[in-house]
Amino acid sequence: MQLKTNGMIFLLAFVLAFAGGYFFFNSGKTEVMQAVTNEQSTKKEVVEEEESQSEEQASAEFEIFNTNSCLSCHAVSSLGLEGGITGPDLSNSYTDIEGKHGVDLDSFLKEPTSAVMTGVIEGNPLSDEDRAEIVDLLKKASEE
Ligand code: HEC
Repeated sequence: MQLKTNGMIFLLAFVLAFAGGYFFFNSGKTEVMQAVTNEQSTKKEVVEEEESQSEEQASAEFEIFNTNSCLSCHAVSSLGLEGGITGPDLSNSYTDIEGKHGVDLDSFLKEPTSAVMTGVIEGNPLSDEDRAEIVDLLKKASEE
């Protein structure tokens, strides 16, 4: 009888110690995991914030291609601008234009020597300011 009780107490103590250790160990682990996850999500938020900022800057700087519908027919891949495939990618048009169309970019955008672009510009002439800005950006595009 005495022996049996001692045995039970011993067993109970053992189980309690084991369970206590188990919970202690596990809760510590969860906290560490949570700390790691928190840090990761903070990093992710920072990255996302930076990305959306640079996207906004990009779209503001290149908005002129959008407002003049250039991107409906052209991409400017060196500036990261996706666009239609009706016309050629304009990444190198600043340097290629003389060889292809016999005039510099500014003259081409004023009075295109290509039939399609003549239609485009006649239908929607570029202001002197917009033309200068487009020439500037396409010059930059050719240097990327
Ligand atoms: C309706 C579609 C369309 C729109 C809108 C359009 N283009 Fe074009 N563009 C073309 C096509 C097609 C060509 C090729 C013409 C050719 O080779 O005769 C071209 C050629 C050009 C070229 C000569 C590039 C090369 O490599 O031959 C430049 C520069 C150009 N476009 C700039 C612009 C700009 C800037 C705008 C916006 C103001 C614009 N285009 C809007 C269709 C378009």
